[in-house]
Amino acid sequence: MTKPNQATAPLLEVDALSVDYGLKGVPLRAIEDVSFTLCAGEAVGLVGESGSGKTTTALSIAGLLPPNAGVSSGEVRYRGKRLPISDDAAMRSHRWSEISFVFQGAMNALNPVHRVVKQIAEPCMLKRGMARDEAAARARELLELVGIPADRGSAFPHELSGGMRQRVMIAMALACCPSIIIGDEPTTALDVITQAQILKLLGKLRSQLNLAIILITHDLSVVAESCDRAMIMYAGRIVEDGLVADVFAEPKHPYTKLLIESIPNPAKGKHILRPIPGDPPTLVNRPSGCSFRSRCPSAIQVCATEDPRLDLAGRGRVACHLHRSLTQERTVAADA
Ligand SMILES: Nc1ncnc2c1ncn2[C@@H]1O[C@H](COP(=O)(O)OP(=O)(O)OP(=O)(O)O)[C@@H](O)[C@H]1O
Ligand SMILES: [Mg+2]
Repeated sequence: MTKPNQATAPLLEVDALSVDYGLKGVPLRAIEDVSFTLCAGEAVGLVGESGSGKTTTALSIAGLLPPNAGVSSGEVRYRGKRLPISDDAAMRSHRWSEISFVFQGAMNALNPVHRVVKQIAEPCMLKRGMARDEAAARARELLELVGIPADRGSAFPHELSGGMRQRVMIAMALACCPSIIIGDEPTTALDVITQAQILKLLGKLRSQLNLAIILITHDLSVVAESCDRAMIMYAGRIVEDGLVADVFAEPKHPYTKLLIESIPNPAKGKHILRPIPGDPPTLVNRPSGCSFRSRCPSAIQVCATEDPRLDLAGRGRVACHLHRSLTQERTVAADA
């Protein structure tokens, strides 16, 4: 698999992004101060419970937020240039040709009355100015690339299996040669074998095309298998970001630890998914201090009053007072 070249400038920079939804006149801060970078060929997994802000992060990067949402601060840069993420029309020249999407539930996204080859050819004509025949040829080429025999292109979506439909969605996402693909739960609706096949396909395309991937999922084990980095979101913020190997070997945030512990592992006698007790806080009126403190088994006094910043920690980042105080203790002990 292609390794990201960290020495080169990032392809994508998300810088202090905050997004609010208007909910019956009351603003709901769905994501707050979200910052991260993505390099060419890198795969980053964005993980977190339902409502933690994963989709909102993805939609804002692509300028696809619904009308009741607004970017309240921050910006997104692609190859160093600011993207007009709040301007749908201006974003059209960037979407699909630079940043592309694969959503969950291909059956709903595909048009049931058109053959799939036509649906893949369409963005080639609209975005790349190809003539009909050229676009159809490109669509067949893309079908082969995602592991579907080109002659199956004449099928309608309902004639294909769920896995094949998701492959068609990936072919469509690749039609305009983007450098970044954002997959929002692209395998959630699929059985485990098909899920593994789709993840393998994304990995193959990533190395073949040097694609950068943001993979959104609830499932940390999916990130472990397919990504270089894991970014953990909680209540609209990134609480931990690190190389997958580091995050699994030594999770720094108590939430990440609990997420890892909740994964079933029959080899260790853990047969069922163990949910994390408690619920995330309401995003309308955030409580003071750390958003995770009411569920955190290690909370200390400061967690009730001060919101922890996302600080550098080793090769990654973490937002946790406990981690900071442990690091300070270690430094003091080492200096003594
Ligand atoms: N269109 C909307 N209008 C109002 N609030 C919304 C809207 N979409 C999302 N939200 C709220 O924003 C917060 C973040 O939602 P988001 O969909 O980004 O989370 P998520 O991590 O993708 O969740 P899931 O895993 O369930 O897909 C949630 O509190 C959600 O209720
Ligand atoms: Mg979502």
